[in-house]
Amino acid sequence: MCGIFGYLGYQEAQPLVIDGLRSLAYRGYDSAGIAVLSSEGTLGVRKAAGKIDNLIGAATSSPLSGKLGIGHTRWATHGEPNEINSHPHFDGSGSIVVVHNGILENYAELKERLIANGHVFSSVTDTEVIPHLIQELIAEGLSFPEAVRIAAGQLRGAHAIACLHADHPQEMITLRIGNAGGVSIGHGQGEMFIASDLPALVPHTSSVTPLEPGEMAIINPEGCDVMTLDGTPVDSSRLTITVNAVSAAKGGYKHFMLKEIMEQPETAMSALRGRLSFNPGEVTLDLPFTEQEMKEFTRVVFIGMGTSSHACQIGARFIEILARIPATSENAAEFRYRDPVLDSHSLVVAVAQSGETADTLEAMHQAATAGARTLAITNVEGSQAYRQAEASILMHAGPEIGVASSKTFINSMIAMQLLALRLGATRNTIPVAASTEYVQALSHLPGLLGEALSANEGMYHKLAAKYARSRRFLFIGRGLLEPIAREGAMKLKEISYIHAEGMSAAELKHGPIALVDPETPVIAFAPRNAMYEKMLGNITEVRARSGQVIGITTAGNAGFTGLVDDTLYIPATPPLLEPLLATIPAQLLAYHMADLLGNDVDQPRNLAKSVTVE
Ligand code: AGP
Repeated sequence: MCGIFGYLGYQEAQPLVIDGLRSLAYRGYDSAGIAVLSSEGTLGVRKAAGKIDNLIGAATSSPLSGKLGIGHTRWATHGEPNEINSHPHFDGSGSIVVVHNGILENYAELKERLIANGHVFSSVTDTEVIPHLIQELIAEGLSFPEAVRIAAGQLRGAHAIACLHADHPQEMITLRIGNAGGVSIGHGQGEMFIASDLPALVPHTSSVTPLEPGEMAIINPEGCDVMTLDGTPVDSSRLTITVNAVSAAKGGYKHFMLKEIMEQPETAMSALRGRLSFNPGEVTLDLPFTEQEMKEFTRVVFIGMGTSSHACQIGARFIEILARIPATSENAAEFRYRDPVLDSHSLVVAVAQSGETADTLEAMHQAATAGARTLAITNVEGSQAYRQAEASILMHAGPEIGVASSKTFINSMIAMQLLALRLGATRNTIPVAASTEYVQALSHLPGLLGEALSANEGMYHKLAAKYARSRRFLFIGRGLLEPIAREGAMKLKEISYIHAEGMSAAELKHGPIALVDPETPVIAFAPRNAMYEKMLGNITEVRARSGQVIGITTAGNAGFTGLVDDTLYIPATPPLLEPLLATIPAQLLAYHMADLLGNDVDQPRNLAKSVTVE
């Protein structure tokens, strides 16, 4: 949820830490802060409520000098996002400073004990307990690293932590407990970095040690010692990251989200590159299963949260259609607590663009413990989901900076279709001729996405002007378009702050139709497919109750315009690609409404890109 960045080396720390925080700001942007150790051995701190620019203002007008620093960008859990509650937090002596990502479940009990021992707290955060706890252990005679390690053993919950001590100018300590977001250590020449996420390290190094849960690293300018939290040394393997930093710029677009929507033809191409072969049509995916194991899968369960859970709903349908394996999708947070029945013939596929979503990681752990086979579909190579699963299918969408997912949604659906085709081929549920057709169709997807993006010229501005002040929206669809209705509603909610609900069009008459009135536009996904006539029936029911309908249909469907108030078109395509193409008008409608309302599209209120708390 929050972002952590740290530097130790020969350069001035402040600009590097601030730049690191800037690239992590999508993880939380309620407040930000940095601490830097000066050459005189004093820890200076700058904090500011609100976005990173406020911190930049504070740090620029009164810069901190020193070669060791840590910083934090916060998504508030305990205490309002004001300056006092911002990280970093100090101990009572001002010598120990901590930044933290996670929720300290037993903080009240620890705080009470520390207060009884004379500690005085200045914030209402759970985090402030940690430096005080370390201070107490040092006072009992432990070294700084030992005190950190023993303190870590007393913390309940999942955490990523970094800390410094004013008497240790050549040391930065970081640790990880459970899944509260990752910490990776970047190795430079005579300088070292830490960051919550790999893209923040890319400008500095491609040599990275990711910490596993239950590990701690003592970092010096030349390297680091990694150990488990019980003190056993770990031979930490190096992972060379290949994240491309180039696309982390807006490229002339007003917002990252718009750029990310517009680059979907290109990112779809990246998801397909090297994975399709023609004549006969086949999909190449590196899977950790034998052909026999794939034939023996008796069920597939997709797990994810938010937008990824909508992608999971599509994924389950793809698997049933193409591979004929019973498949379901589940909210990962619910899945992990309900003791699901799984065995070695169950395939659990976790979908997470960040690869760091706590709910999804815990559900993956549950699945593996129950003996299921696991795969991750993720956009971040080296992320926790990537490392935790038996294997991953990378989305290859490039860095997604906009907090609302767009291109990673499309690419996760592509990855799922590839998986379904691969399983179907192995299980002989797809005749060779059909497989060739599917592969051909997929190869046309980037072009079709491009057509969908350039269709409906001028319509989004017009529709935004007409509808952006509506009280609420309903999104309806059937079959493969039902999850797209849910995703469309979520996109609108997230960035425009207008209430929206997405559902099966069939569900409307069972209750939600009570909401239909002239103030409640209904977005109806009605391409010319097997469910078209049913959708027309549902649209008629809405219009009979004075509801206004924005219909999304197939290009060339001339008779449709008379049946709805406004029409958006998507290119004609085989049904399996319809959900991907229908996503485009949903994304653009949401974007243009949010933009017209003057909202912060890339960093919508209350959200974070990577949700690393339960
Ligand atoms: C997407 O627009 C949302 N910001 C959010 O729902 C997101 O999809 C969810 O938190 C899951 O994230 P993940 O894909 O990184 O696991």
